[in-house]
Amino acid sequence: MTRPITEWVDVDGSVSIIAQESGEVWFYKRDSADDDSLFATPMTGPGSPGSAVRLLDAAINLGFSRIERQLATPAPSIAGYVMALIGAYHTSVDTPRNLLRAARRFEKLGRPEVTAYLEERAREETGHDRLALKDLKALGFPAERLVANYIPDGIKPLCKRFDDLCADDYPIGSVGYSYCLERIAALKQENDIAMVKAICPDGVDATRFLRSHSGLGSEAMHVEETITFVASLPADDRIKVVQETYRSAALMAEGYNQELLRPENEVIATLEQAAGEPLVFALRRPMAETERARPAA
Ligand SMILES: [Fe+2]
Ligand SMILES: [Fe+2]
Repeated sequence: MTRPITEWVDVDGSVSIIAQESGEVWFYKRDSADDDSLFATPMTGPGSPGSAVRLLDAAINLGFSRIERQLATPAPSIAGYVMALIGAYHTSVDTPRNLLRAARRFEKLGRPEVTAYLEERAREETGHDRLALKDLKALGFPAERLVANYIPDGIKPLCKRFDDLCADDYPIGSVGYSYCLERIAALKQENDIAMVKAICPDGVDATRFLRSHSGLGSEAMHVEETITFVASLPADDRIKVVQETYRSAALMAEGYNQELLRPENEVIATLEQAAGEPLVFALRRPMAETERARPAA
């Protein structure tokens, strides 16, 4: 009988995530630097989709648990949603170009399977920035002006992180960042979309980006494909991908919280400054406490 595959990754020098193909996952905390247990040394064996997905998701959970304050859940509002769409635009606009840059690097390194994966991703992500622009326009906002004049502060470090990862000499970390972003998006379901529709004017469809980046759109499939791809990589690469998933998750949690914690009047003032004109927020319709949503986009 073949033993189930076990994978492990030391994510931050003190905690290793251990996952089995059959579904078990746990954390191993080292007590001392001279710990010589198996899980304190890098894994070298093959991966499997079952263990890879658990390693990756545990890395996201661990990264999110490292923020000082619990993720904020403000009541949905048009101003907050517009800000989220501007953030969505900025995290999407350079994605195809960045992924192709990483693909060219792997081509030079003689890794055609990684090149093919990144090229496919670049194709699939093309045009997603335009979905965010269309949503902003549908809501009656000057989309191009807003995104040209403003990048939310909490989103800037994420854009820089992805730029840097894709420009790296060995850009495998870009896979970890992408997985993190897409996995979080794929958690969104019908009720998240319904909550946004509820604050939009009747007859306005401003959920193109959100739908596409949810469990109902292409994101769920992208996540599945990435898990299969990561499982097929050599152990060294899988370690780097999981470590970056952890770091990206911590950065995303911090950045999203920074945005979600901003008072609404400050958000409106920032948007009006970026637009260079007063904006109509009369469409704002506060929702009941029980209907609060996750980040809109
Ligand atoms: Fe996308
Ligand atoms: Fe995607």
